[in-house]
Amino acid sequence: MNKRVCIIGAGPCGLSQLHAFEEARKQGAEIPELVCFEKQDNWGGLWNYTWRTGLDEHGEPVHGSMYRYLWSNAPKELLEFADYTFDDHFGRAIPSFPPREVLYDYITGRANKNDVARHIQFSTAVRWVEHDGKQFHVTVENLENNDSRTETFDHVVVATGHFSIPKAPYYPGFERFPGRILHSHDFRDAQEFTGKRLLVMGSSYSAEDIALQCRKYGSGPVTITYRSNPMGFKWPEGVEEVPLLERMEGKTAHFSDGSTREIDAIILCTGYQHNFPFMADELKLVTANRLWTDSLYKGVFWIDDPRLMYLGMQDQYYTFTHFDLEAWVARDYMLGRLDMPERTERQRDFDAWRAKEEQLEDAFQDIDFQADHLEDLAAMTDYPEFDIGLTREIFYQWEHHKDENIVTYRDRAGFASPRTGTRSPAHHTDWWHALDDSMATYVEQGAKEKTG
Ligand SMILES: Cc1cc2nc3c(=O)[nH]c(=O)nc-3n(C[C@H](O)[C@H](O)[C@H](O)COP(=O)(O)OP(=O)(O)OC[C@H]3O[C@@H](n4cnc5c(N)ncnc54)[C@H](O)[C@@H]3O)c2cc1C
Ligand SMILES: NC(=O)c1ccc[n+]([C@@H]2O[C@H](COP(=O)([O-])OP(=O)(O)OC[C@H]3O[C@@H](n4cnc5c(N)ncnc54)[C@H](OP(=O)(O)O)[C@@H]3O)[C@@H](O)[C@H]2O)c1
Repeated sequence: MNKRVCIIGAGPCGLSQLHAFEEARKQGAEIPELVCFEKQDNWGGLWNYTWRTGLDEHGEPVHGSMYRYLWSNAPKELLEFADYTFDDHFGRAIPSFPPREVLYDYITGRANKNDVARHIQFSTAVRWVEHDGKQFHVTVENLENNDSRTETFDHVVVATGHFSIPKAPYYPGFERFPGRILHSHDFRDAQEFTGKRLLVMGSSYSAEDIALQCRKYGSGPVTITYRSNPMGFKWPEGVEEVPLLERMEGKTAHFSDGSTREIDAIILCTGYQHNFPFMADELKLVTANRLWTDSLYKGVFWIDDPRLMYLGMQDQYYTFTHFDLEAWVARDYMLGRLDMPERTERQRDFDAWRAKEEQLEDAFQDIDFQADHLEDLAAMTDYPEFDIGLTREIFYQWEHHKDENIVTYRDRAGFASPRTGTRSPAHHTDWWHALDDSMATYVEQGAKEKTG
């Protein structure tokens, strides 16, 4: 009997998995039956923007954490699919830091090309996954009619992401704060905060981007409070970093250096939890957001039983190409093309990577470590070649550009595609003044201006 594969989630990782199988099918391989369950009514995962926050129309926790005016925070050359380039999709060179809608179009463009939608059951939430020693039993609920059923599979690939369930800490005085306190998961439109004095908590990508973006769209002064280390960028006027919040007294924020600020709204950019309530305990990934995820061989295979796979669970410098490589390797295992070593050898390999990860000291070493992970995966499969060495260099340049000027790093151009060599043109408007993030303005108006 033909094998059955269950893929949970049709975000970038789930789509990579479906695409990997379709590429093998085109080359004549016999493919298992693929069933992808997606709880939203559309694909693209986080890139599928929603205005909703809290619970959705079915009473499900809203998955989306992306907000309006979100632009790629790294050059697109670092995430370009090796088998579907930006030139393929847009038919011309486009600038390096596209807004969300442009990247959504790119991701779904490849998915449409291979018609992977035919494998996806939308508005279908996975409620429970267990294993009986031979097969997986997956219970799903159709959110349109509330019908539940259980199906049996040989393999399960979990591709549900890990930036949707907030970590939201408590600080004294929050319960009496006379204003809005929200997590970045629920942040949507910066214009909500026009004229407001903001406290942003965190010192990572969300804190950096939301602080800048609020200021860009007209907020009052933004105070960023950090727990471990400041980001230390040269912030524009009206944005500053201070040590950790101790307490709120009414609208007054008291910080550990003794200073105070008056605040109208608080945005917690305090990160996310890996959360898999639908997995039986013995199959559930429990890990911090780190570069070498707990319990996974090669960052993909459940170390105790590789018939279960998780995609994209690492902290992410690399994204779409990393997801593709993981999906290609997972596919090869499921097609019987990959020799799976014994448990002790899987553990030995895991321990070696973990030991290296624990020695990492800065962002440059982090990037090299994740690039090494990509190269290790690439050597195991037939994913089309792309210049990983070049992506390391672009990452280093990007880190330097951010240190030079956090407001203008997205205006840089001239990055070469690691697949085609095409160099990115400059965008027609600098990021700080580009208030319209629509695809029409980004791609089409840019082209119009260039052609005169
Ligand atoms: C605010 C923000 C900005 C980001 N910006 C960038 C960026 O600029 N560039 C970049 O490369 N990356 C960015 N990322 C990283 C992002 O994690 C990846 O780009 C990518 O979306 C991860 O894909 P994924 O498939 O692993 O997860 P997701 O995109 O989260 O998709 C998971 C899918 O699983 C579905 N699902 C979840 N639970 C269930 C269930 N029980 N049953 C059925 N379906 C389920 C969800 O509905 C969703 O469609 C950003 C992340 C965040 C939070
Ligand atoms: N395209 C874009 O522009 C964009 C924008 C936003 C996010 N993203 C993506 O979204 C993903 C998630 O990024 P993220 O910044 O949300 O999460 P993150 O990288 O996990 O960072 C979480 C931050 O919260 C802080 N924190 C955690 N608990 C805290 C507490 N109790 N008190 C105070 N601070 C606390 C952490 O501080 P410590 O350092 O002390 O641990 C850390 O700085 C990333 O992949 C990023 O690339 C992209």
